[in-house]
Amino acid sequence: MKILHIDSSIMGDASVSRQLSAEIVQQLQQKHGDAAQVQHLDLAVQQIPHLSSEILMGQNAEQSALGEQLLQQYLDADVVVVGAAMYNFGLPSTLKAWIDRISVAGRTFKYTEQGPVGLAGDKKVYIASSRGGVYGDNSPVDYQEGLLKAVFNFTGVSDIDVIRAEGVNMGPDMKAQAMATAQAQIQAI
Ligand SMILES: Cc1cc2nc3c(=O)[nH]c(=O)nc-3n(C[C@H](O)[C@H](O)[C@H](O)COP(=O)(O)O)c2cc1C
Repeated sequence: MKILHIDSSIMGDASVSRQLSAEIVQQLQQKHGDAAQVQHLDLAVQQIPHLSSEILMGQNAEQSALGEQLLQQYLDADVVVVGAAMYNFGLPSTLKAWIDRISVAGRTFKYTEQGPVGLAGDKKVYIASSRGGVYGDNSPVDYQEGLLKAVFNFTGVSDIDVIRAEGVNMGPDMKAQAMATAQAQIQAI
């Protein structure tokens, strides 16, 4: 079982989403033992250049190779665990840069007369979400979890669990409670 573990927070060891994503991976490893092969993609370390016209048109050999590698890594994964902080209501731009490389027509989706069809559906996604404030499930200003879920759905993935710690900047009690709730979800995986 191939696990693709993605982190995007800029906060290193102080990051909530990194802590949660690591605990999810650890839980999966405990559950599946040696069958679990983990690849860690740390987008704060390996920053993916923004998509440009040159990259999109395949005119930059180095970036074409990187794009292919990221795309294949996503296609090959049985499980994707993605640490996603909320930054300015959305995702870290490094994670958006990754999305721009894996949303590729003919590889992860295609358009048909009936509409778009996802081509990378056979996987499970865990989103380790961290937010300073509280937004719940359906906030109109959530462009973080909502965007990620839309992208995974678009590529055909419907089996998505969100493990969320929110209100983490609203005082130590709120943070402790949010972490305990998220960790209980992780224990139940
Ligand atoms: C640049 C930046 C922007 C942020 N924007 C928001 C925001 O729009 N809404 C919110 O609730 N929290 C916001 N926060 C707080 C983070 O979501 C919170 O600290 C979360 O724990 C970040 O994840 P991390 O701990 O994995 O880095 C922001 C933090 C940073 C550093």
